[in-house]
Amino acid sequence: MKVAVVGATGLVGTKILQVLVDRNFPVTELIPVASKSSVGKEISFKNNYIKVVDMEEAIAAKPAIAIFSAGGTTSLEWAPKFAAAGIRVIDNSSAWRMDPTKKLVVPEVNASVLTSEDYIIANPNCSTIQMVVALQPLHQKYKINRVVVSTYQSVTGTGKQAVDQLFSERIGEKLSADQMAYKYPIDLNVIPQIDVF
Ligand SMILES: NC(=O)c1ccc[n+]([C@@H]2O[C@H](COP(=O)([O-])OP(=O)(O)OC[C@H]3O[C@@H](n4cnc5c(N)ncnc54)[C@H](OP(=O)(O)O)[C@@H]3O)[C@@H](O)[C@H]2O)c1
Repeated sequence: MKVAVVGATGLVGTKILQVLVDRNFPVTELIPVASKSSVGKEISFKNNYIKVVDMEEAIAAKPAIAIFSAGGTTSLEWAPKFAAAGIRVIDNSSAWRMDPTKKLVVPEVNASVLTSEDYIIANPNCSTIQMVVALQPLHQKYKINRVVVSTYQSVTGTGKQAVDQLFSERIGEKLSADQMAYKYPIDLNVIPQIDVF
C-alpha cells in the first residue's frame, strides 16, 4: 500500500512512521510530507532515507491513504484536495472531529460505521481514544449515560515547538514571542487550556 504521512517531521508524524514499522504495515511506498521548509530533507524509514515532499507532490503520487498530523488548519485546507483525488485521509487533527458530515472513528470501537464513501476519516484526541476503548465494553453491558473527565495534557501534545520552549526555559534561555508555543512560561507551570476554547 502506498502511504503518505503528512506532518512526517513532527512529533506525531515521527511516531506514526515508527508504528507503521513496528506493526509491519504493508507499506510498498512511503511518501513523507511536511511544510515547504522541510521539503528535500530526508527521513529514515525501514533503513532507507526518503526525501520529504510537499502537498502537491504527495497528491500527484496518488497514495492509497494519507495519514494527516500537520495541524487543524492544514487539514482543513488539504484533506479535501487529497479526498478529491481519491486518496483516503485519516486525520489526527481537530479539524473534522465535530463535523457532522465526517465520521469520528476509533477502530476498536466503531470501525464498522465506515463505508467506501468515506474519504476523510477523523479520529479523536488521544485521551479520548484510549478512554473509549476501555468504556466501550462497559457501555455495551451497562449503558453509560455520562462520563466526567479531567485530563492533564503533556507539553509534547502541543508539538515540537512546545517541547523546545520547555527545554529552553529549563536552561534559562530567553525566547522571543514567535519562538514560544504558549503565551506563558511552561516549565514548572500548568496552563488551564488546550487547543482553542
Ligand atoms: N489524535 C491524536 O491522538 C493526536 C495527538 C497529538 C497531536 N495530534 C495532532 O497532530 C498534529 C501534529 O502534532 P505534532 O505534535 O506532531 O506537531 P509538530 O511536532 O509541531 O509537527 C507538525 C508537523 O506538521 C507539519 N506542517 C506544519 N504546517 C504544514 C503545512 N502547511 N503543510 C504541510 N505540513 C505542515 C510540520 O512540518 P515542518 O517540520 O516542515 O514544520 C510537522 O511535520 C496536530 O494537529 C495535533 O493536534 C493528534
